[in-house]
Amino acid sequence: MKILVTGGTNGMGKGVAKVLSAFDDQIHEIILLGRSEELGEATIRELESSSGNKKLSFVLCDLAKLSDVRAAINEIQSKHTFLDCIFINAGLGYAAKRVETEDGMNPHFQVNYLSQFMLTLNLLNLLENSENGGRVIFNVTRGGEIFWDDIQMKNKWGFEKGIHQAMAAKRMFLVELHDLYKGVSGKKVSFIGFEISQTVWSNQINIIPVSMKIMATVMKFFGTFISIEKCGMIMAPLFTENQEVSLKKSGKFVTWKNNEFIRMKEEETLFSRELQDRLWNISLELCKDEKTTRIAERLHNYSK
Ligand SMILES: NC(=O)c1ccc[n+]([C@@H]2O[C@H](COP(=O)([O-])OP(=O)(O)OC[C@H]3O[C@@H](n4cnc5c(N)ncnc54)[C@H](OP(=O)(O)O)[C@@H]3O)[C@@H](O)[C@H]2O)c1
Repeated sequence: MKILVTGGTNGMGKGVAKVLSAFDDQIHEIILLGRSEELGEATIRELESSSGNKKLSFVLCDLAKLSDVRAAINEIQSKHTFLDCIFINAGLGYAAKRVETEDGMNPHFQVNYLSQFMLTLNLLNLLENSENGGRVIFNVTRGGEIFWDDIQMKNKWGFEKGIHQAMAAKRMFLVELHDLYKGVSGKKVSFIGFEISQTVWSNQINIIPVSMKIMATVMKFFGTFISIEKCGMIMAPLFTENQEVSLKKSGKFVTWKNNEFIRMKEEETLFSRELQDRLWNISLELCKDEKTTRIAERLHNYSK
């Protein structure tokens, strides 16, 4: 499998990349997408030495910059003729204040959702070329709402609300993609939401304020957290299972409980096509990218 992992330089993304690079006698090719060249190179060296896998590469892309997303899409398209999986994972977590991106957006909305909306749409053709069954695994949590009148959260900002809004947007995007692909004959791609049922001891611990860190350390003592490697082990089958099994999960949200993937119940609003289309159109306007708009139109035409 050839797997692109956004946010592969830390936390859950790194855990998945680490496990997959060693999985199945190191046959999988892993492409890490991240915002720091230095960290990207260091992660590749680390994973090469822990797994022995030499099919690891890095794409530099700060998801807080749409210009970087365009460049990353071009780089991936020029180097690869297909992709088997994308892990939509990168996310900005704790932030002390709202620091607008250079594109004038709420950073959680842009990094955690919008840039990855654009990335996914532009890489669908590579997933369609997969001989193993292309798939996109979205790292999601339930809850959250779209602040339709203030998506950029200029009036009322909070980092947790920002994270949850982006999560709700990601989940609506996933459901719409799944529905659109139902109308595409012969081009089967799965879109799966995965929620980890335990908290992962990720790099967020190094970013949060001291009071939160103390609380987390106490909770760690009581076994609340799992390691990034354990998280990678749990998630690995989603990336490597055969196409038929993967397609059965498409459009759904799953978690891992009692040693199996189980389906989670989802909120009704996510399945409102009217709201999905509203978010989709807002997202296209914010991307301001003709190619992305053309891809979106092609998908909507397929489903007619
Ligand atoms: N930890 C949990 O228990 C948990 C549970 C459910 C869902 N999640 C979700 O999982 C995802 C990963 O979180 P995590 O806990 O693993 O946190 P993390 O350790 O901080 O990892 C976040 C990853 O996203 C990358 N990233 C952040 N901003 C970026 C940007 N502007 N451009 C490109 N990459 C960027 C980070 O890059 P750097 O390496 O350069 O920092 C890092 O690789 C998030 O979406 C989070 O909401 C986490």
